[in-house]
Amino acid sequence: MKDWISIAIDGPSGAGKSTIARQLAKRFGFIYVDTGALYRSIGWYALEQGVFPGDLEKVEPLLAQIHLELKYEGGEQRVYLNGQELSGKIRTPEVSMAASQVSPLPPVRRFLFDLQRNMAQISNVIMDGRDIGTVVLPNATLKLFLTASPEDRAQRRCQELLEKGVQVTYDEVLADVQKRDYNDSHRAEAPLRQAEDALLVDTTGNSLEQSITQISGILLEKLPQLQKKEARNVL
Ligand code: DC
Repeated sequence: MKDWISIAIDGPSGAGKSTIARQLAKRFGFIYVDTGALYRSIGWYALEQGVFPGDLEKVEPLLAQIHLELKYEGGEQRVYLNGQELSGKIRTPEVSMAASQVSPLPPVRRFLFDLQRNMAQISNVIMDGRDIGTVVLPNATLKLFLTASPEDRAQRRCQELLEKGVQVTYDEVLADVQKRDYNDSHRAEAPLRQAEDALLVDTTGNSLEQSITQISGILLEKLPQLQKKEARNVL
């Protein structure tokens, strides 16, 4: 079996994981696996069925009705649930909340485990999430734990929301970031934590471009074989 390269990127919400992972995947010709989208899809389905997403007794039986697939179109990940393409529908604030309510449920995490793990057995992947380096890909070729101060992450999130026309205050967003950090790192199942062999990358004070330069430098240093892939992608 071919030895695929897998890069695990974990960290709290708002650290820039998905934007950075997506760009690096393009640059090095990897598949980008956004695992948050899978939790969002289960949260979306629970809402569609009129079920409270945090209700273990009600959510668990729904899993048997769900067939999830990841497909890649023009390098972009698309999630299909029972044949329906969901990508746009799972980015609403309501679905973000539903995803954070289903994600602590052990049957949901078990349900998504194989799908995530299998992606790393068929391709070179950059996979981001909360438990990729600790649970999903404990043998990943390279693990990064990406973080930034809560204030910085709140500032970035605030900017994004204001650009989308959503009226929020910095204090509200900061409180939300702190609450989500607490929930993600204190849940019993697969809490957010840095794997022992993960490199800590703190992007506090960086622009997105600076973070991308910093992280691609780490990738090229730790995985020199990527230099060849990059040359191939540029040509
Ligand atoms: O990264 P995101 O905001 O799209 O993630 C949505 C939710 O799913 C978030 O509350 C954390 C959770 N999640 C998780 O528990 N484990 C992962 N590997 C990815 C996301």
